[in-house]
Amino acid sequence: MFEILEKTQYSEKVFKFRVHAPQMAKKAHAGQFLMVRTDEHGERVPFTFADWNPEEGWIEFIFMVIGKTTEDLSQLQAGDSILDVTGPLGQPTEMKPGNWCVIGGGVGLAIAYPVARALVDAGNKVTVIMGARTKDLLILTEQFRELPLENLIITTDDGSEGEKGVVTAPLERLCEDHAIDQVFAVGPVPMMKFSALTCEKYDMPITASLNPIMVDGTGMCGCCRVTVGGKTKFACVDGPDFDATQVDWADLAARQGSYRAEEHVALEHAHE
Ligand code: FES
Repeated sequence: MFEILEKTQYSEKVFKFRVHAPQMAKKAHAGQFLMVRTDEHGERVPFTFADWNPEEGWIEFIFMVIGKTTEDLSQLQAGDSILDVTGPLGQPTEMKPGNWCVIGGGVGLAIAYPVARALVDAGNKVTVIMGARTKDLLILTEQFRELPLENLIITTDDGSEGEKGVVTAPLERLCEDHAIDQVFAVGPVPMMKFSALTCEKYDMPITASLNPIMVDGTGMCGCCRVTVGGKTKFACVDGPDFDATQVDWADLAARQGSYRAEEHVALEHAHE
């Protein structure tokens, strides 16, 4: 059992848990993830490490309530325990030296934050583009503001915070100004896809952290398969980071939506 040491609520549906996990805290790297199972009948769901502290023996992950498992998780409080927390899983994000642009969309900001922080800590110049549909869905804004970034650009679809529009407009400007030489993107599939298309225009390398449905997280079930460069890859062991210009985005979007009806039913029953 893994004790929740601290619970933080960022918005109506976004939470952060700090969990006692000393072994995991010693091995975690930016870009890796963990899998959580709340009880013996529950599904296993992946979350990226948001932070970790080997000296104090804790790890943190951020989640948004989107289904039954995350709804159940959001009901837990500091002092409660989670049945299983497994990790670190997946490959760490490759930290090549350079002028980086880190793009995070929606709950993907929870992944973008530790990656941006690790890139800054490694001595790189980092510009962050945060994107969300509306101001209320922006998370970790204060934490991003505290990082010594080259620039922090916020976009919202409705213009309620920062620039009105999507992340590709500032990305295009940065590419045109030669202000960056590598990009990391994580968020909804359309955001990552159009970021990849923008980068391709400028011959700009771009890595995307993919988020397909996962079951075991160890390369056994095949559930997380994605097509990259025409080849089948398992996001849980080969990724989650891949060359975004090589990803088959239509295939990923279709696979992400495969259980939408069942998820909806499970959530309805959770409220009965
Ligand atoms: Fe099962 Fe990746 S989650 S193979």
